[in-house]
Amino acid sequence: MLRSSPETVATPPLTSPDAYADEVRAIIVNRPGGPAALRLTETETPAPGPDQVLVKVAAAGVNFIDTYRRSGVYRVAFPHIPGSEGAGTVAALGQRVAGFAVGDQVAWASSATGSYAEYALVDAARLLPAPAGLTLDVAAALPLQGLTADYLTRSTYELGPDDVALIYAAAGGVGGLATQMALAAGARVIAAVGSAAKIETVAGLGVAPHDIVNLAALADLTRDLPAAVRERTGGAGAHVAYDGIGRDTFAATLASLRRRGLAVLFGGASGQVAPFDPQELNAHGSLYLTRPKLDDYVASPDELRERADRLFAAAAAGRLRVAIGRRVPLADASGAHELLESRQSQGKIVLYM
Ligand SMILES: NC(=O)c1ccc[n+]([C@@H]2O[C@H](COP(=O)([O-])OP(=O)(O)OC[C@H]3O[C@@H](n4cnc5c(N)ncnc54)[C@H](OP(=O)(O)O)[C@@H]3O)[C@@H](O)[C@H]2O)c1
Repeated sequence: MLRSSPETVATPPLTSPDAYADEVRAIIVNRPGGPAALRLTETETPAPGPDQVLVKVAAAGVNFIDTYRRSGVYRVAFPHIPGSEGAGTVAALGQRVAGFAVGDQVAWASSATGSYAEYALVDAARLLPAPAGLTLDVAAALPLQGLTADYLTRSTYELGPDDVALIYAAAGGVGGLATQMALAAGARVIAAVGSAAKIETVAGLGVAPHDIVNLAALADLTRDLPAAVRERTGGAGAHVAYDGIGRDTFAATLASLRRRGLAVLFGGASGQVAPFDPQELNAHGSLYLTRPKLDDYVASPDELRERADRLFAAAAAGRLRVAIGRRVPLADASGAHELLESRQSQGKIVLYM
């Protein structure tokens, strides 16, 4: 059961390297399972390796990949401390780390140890200075979904004013940010949402009301969504479709694209897509298909920094709205996962310590 939460996460007071306890609270998963597998535990504070930084976590981002790891869809070693995203304060530095100091406010999209914990280790090369002007909970909410939306809309397919993009889960985390970035690039967005409650949210991002499709109102998603997209594009279809839902939507994605369009399958919130026949790409008009992941678009520290700088600058300047849908205490991580998997959430869910 989800407990209530404060409006913002306080900046942690700790700045001294020896001020942390040996035992800290963390969420642990002992064996794969549903949200109830997430248990609060006490664990040893991890010690940084030579190129690592120990961070005191103020807030951790909750992402769909955390649910895949918890449930065993993606293989991890158990016991497993979930979470790869967060923001907080540098508590200690490995011997070879330069460029960060104890007390610095930082954010990250990929921690070396789980971020659902009061302390986590982050490789120095993956650590980002937290942007001035953003609270730590917003800094925690943004990196993973924001960097993903950045590479999807700029690099997997470089959106411009002549493009029509179909974006699923447009009231969600990645979808909400990608929708804003696509509109900022001048593209037209046809936004798919899973309930009437999400229509207003997506309209608030700037999508034209006529271009918002409520999937719950369609009798047959595979037949009716492509028809809705074609009806709105003079019969042609979308140039690109961003599909993080997967199993339930993939057939509709292929059928919604125009000739030589690009299907970007970047997740499986409804389940993974079954193996399929490449002849389908031929049958739908010489389509392209890609299955990208964030790691491959931030592999070098330079690319990571370039994307993060752009992302944080846009958020700090108010050009990118970071919607935190729910703030949940660490102890209630299972409630956070239940909410994300229930399809009821909007924007980002963050855990605070
Ligand atoms: N490849 C990458 O680099 C990368 C990186 C980050 C995230 N992702 C993927 O991006 C997707 C979105 O992640 P997110 O963290 O931003 O989550 P999110 O979009 O905030 O939440 C998931 C959304 O998926 C939709 N959905 C449709 N069918 C669903 C089902 N059966 N169960 C649950 N949700 C369903 C729901 O929106 P509607 O009700 O509006 O349909 C739901 O709100 C996930 O597939 C994730 O794995 C990929």
